[in-house]
Amino acid sequence: MANEEGQIPLLTPYKMGKFELSHRVVLAPLTRQRSYGNVPQPHAILYYSQRTTKGGLVIAEATGVSDTAQGYPETPGIWTKQQVEAWKPIVDAVHAKGGIFFCQIWHVGRVSNTGFQPNGQAPISCTDKELASQVRANGIDIARFTRPRRLKTEEIPLVVDDFRVAARNAIEAGFDGVEIHGAHGYLIDQFIKDGVNDRTDEYGGSLENRCRFALEIVDAVAKEIGPDKVGIRLSPFADYMQSGDSNPKALGLYMAESLNKYKILYCHMLEPRMKSVGEKIDCPHSLVPMRKAFKGTFISAGGYDMEDGNNAVAEDRTDLVAYGRLFLANPDLVKRFELNAPLNKYNRETFYIPDPVIGYTDYPFLETTV
Ligand SMILES: Cc1cc2nc3c(=O)[nH]c(=O)nc-3n(C[C@H](O)[C@H](O)[C@H](O)COP(=O)(O)O)c2cc1C
Repeated sequence: MANEEGQIPLLTPYKMGKFELSHRVVLAPLTRQRSYGNVPQPHAILYYSQRTTKGGLVIAEATGVSDTAQGYPETPGIWTKQQVEAWKPIVDAVHAKGGIFFCQIWHVGRVSNTGFQPNGQAPISCTDKELASQVRANGIDIARFTRPRRLKTEEIPLVVDDFRVAARNAIEAGFDGVEIHGAHGYLIDQFIKDGVNDRTDEYGGSLENRCRFALEIVDAVAKEIGPDKVGIRLSPFADYMQSGDSNPKALGLYMAESLNKYKILYCHMLEPRMKSVGEKIDCPHSLVPMRKAFKGTFISAGGYDMEDGNNAVAEDRTDLVAYGRLFLANPDLVKRFELNAPLNKYNRETFYIPDPVIGYTDYPFLETTV
């Protein structure tokens, strides 16, 4: 696995803007649904610090930007003072171990129902097309969605502003930056994809129009906290939550090229093989054209193991690799890669349970040898 200089590619240092990373293994954003009442909880201190290494990049779970942003039970937010205060000790714990911590800011759009919305109102989206009910990722619960309300053109800047304020709040909480969640069929992706967006105003129709909302958010957030603290996550090839596009390659390229204008820190893309969040398929496409088009740091994610990650870095197909399920189940993943040690298996059944310990902070570390 080692390169010609005897180094493991994933474990070589990398300078991401002003951040000196000591390796290229990133904690992918992982929703864990343990933030009761949308407030981050003290048990997240242990969870995130377990997965922090000195000079490692840690991306927090998807975090709601406003009271209309939620669609899952017990997911954290960052729009109230209480939420900002609750994040602070979690951020401090990651910093105490030398980690670099980004907050993923999120709006689910139509992936919601009236039960998650203020005053029982309809969720908002670019469209009024309803999502069909589906089995949740835990394989048990049925997610039910309410027909969304199509945002009026003049309301869109208000939602852009929610992202700006959330980014400001994330910095106030101590985060080093934010990752705008533009992936997986949530609000931004709903605007981007022609399988969802059926608008006839300047936010719909052409590729340029569909990407306008995403780029306005990037612009607003970058102006608010500085482009050197901003990343975005995109999944042009995925059709999770019925968010497919007829030309994902053109879409991915257009976004990668457009992002250069804003000089943001990183672009984080899901591999085309990830049709949904956990389902890997054979796929002829690759992220290389987008990686080449984007001038900042490129992060790839989706279905990586150690060998795949090392190859991607060695072949310069990416700068960093984000690991989701393997990192969830192996708090000391970086150490295990270093030692080529066996990995714990993840347990899907405890991904999203509200327990503060089980399936959360109780995955074992390697036995430490004296
Ligand atoms: C339990 C779980 C929660 C997830 N939550 C998020 C999330 O909050 N935001 C996001 O962008 N992706 C989320 N994802 C997707 C992961 O970040 C990652 O892209 C996906 O698991 C594929 O990578 P992997 O093969 O390394 O697990 C989640 C995935 C899992 C399994």
